[in-house]
Amino acid sequence: MIQLNDVRRDFRRPRTSLLKPAPVVHALRGITLDIATGERFGIVGESGCGKSTLLRIIAGLDRPTSGSVQVEGREISRLRESRLGFLRDQMQLVLQDPMSSLDPRMRVRDIVAEPLVAQGKPHPPERIAELLESVGLSADAAGRYPHQFSGGQRQRISIARALAPDPRILVADEPVSALDVSVRAQVLNLILEIVERLDLTLVFVSHDLSVVRHVCERVAVMRAGEVVEVGATDQVYEEPAHAYTRSLVAAIPHLADALAGRTAADLAAGAKMTTDRQELDRE
Ligand SMILES: Nc1ncnc2c1ncn2[C@@H]1O[C@H](COP(=O)(O)OP(=O)(O)OP(=O)(O)O)[C@@H](O)[C@H]1O
Ligand SMILES: [Mg+2]
Repeated sequence: MIQLNDVRRDFRRPRTSLLKPAPVVHALRGITLDIATGERFGIVGESGCGKSTLLRIIAGLDRPTSGSVQVEGREISRLRESRLGFLRDQMQLVLQDPMSSLDPRMRVRDIVAEPLVAQGKPHPPERIAELLESVGLSADAAGRYPHQFSGGQRQRISIARALAPDPRILVADEPVSALDVSVRAQVLNLILEIVERLDLTLVFVSHDLSVVRHVCERVAVMRAGEVVEVGATDQVYEEPAHAYTRSLVAAIPHLADALAGRTAADLAAGAKMTTDRQELDRE
């Protein structure tokens, strides 16, 4: 479904001196990956390792400096924006912070209809109602504004919007990182349920290995613009082959739980009981 071959992306930083060349950030240093149709594929790694850059390139929102990116056998890295229509139909994004990705002045019905409007497709009220119900919201949410919802509900609205054009691929960049721990598991389970029901391919980015383990069958571990390890999620967790993966595993407090076979749902249930997590999202 998605094939990346030696994808590189350099960013030029603003010049700090007239005498020196502009510094270059090598955000991606030769990424080669295959993501199969229907697969739930995770990408983990610490902040700044290039996860979002990679997702933007997969989604055709950014171009690699070199290398090839194929989606269903079509090279997208050098297509003009006007030729990327097929990708916009097939692939939709869910981002980290639903508050900043939802326009506060728009009603939910217009937010959800946005991708359909952009593609000049019909968006009757019944379709909007169906989409809202498919993410566990009631149809009368359509007339309200984003601030009238909790963080978890707002992320449900962005998921409904992503599903509107009937995509085949869902690309999610830290979709639960901005949410309270108590609702993370609910939103993750919703994503899982939708991906299964609609038979979607999922590309899921997170810095949190326990979250990726809950959702993904296969995972790539990134470090400083490179993939250091790819494999079945359980395998990568239980027997990390690369020293960096082992250090990631050791550094993440959840990981002791993840290694003990507990899932994000258990972790969230546990978190509910701790007093510093009393800000329960009212869902
Ligand atoms: N538009 C840009 N211009 C310059 N540098 C950039 C740009 N976008 C990303 N970078 C740099 O590329 C590197 C990778 O950034 P990226 O946002 O992909 O990391 P990330 O893994 O998503 O991090 P996080 O977990 O914090 O979201 C970083 O060093 C970042 O500063
Ligand atoms: Mg990022």
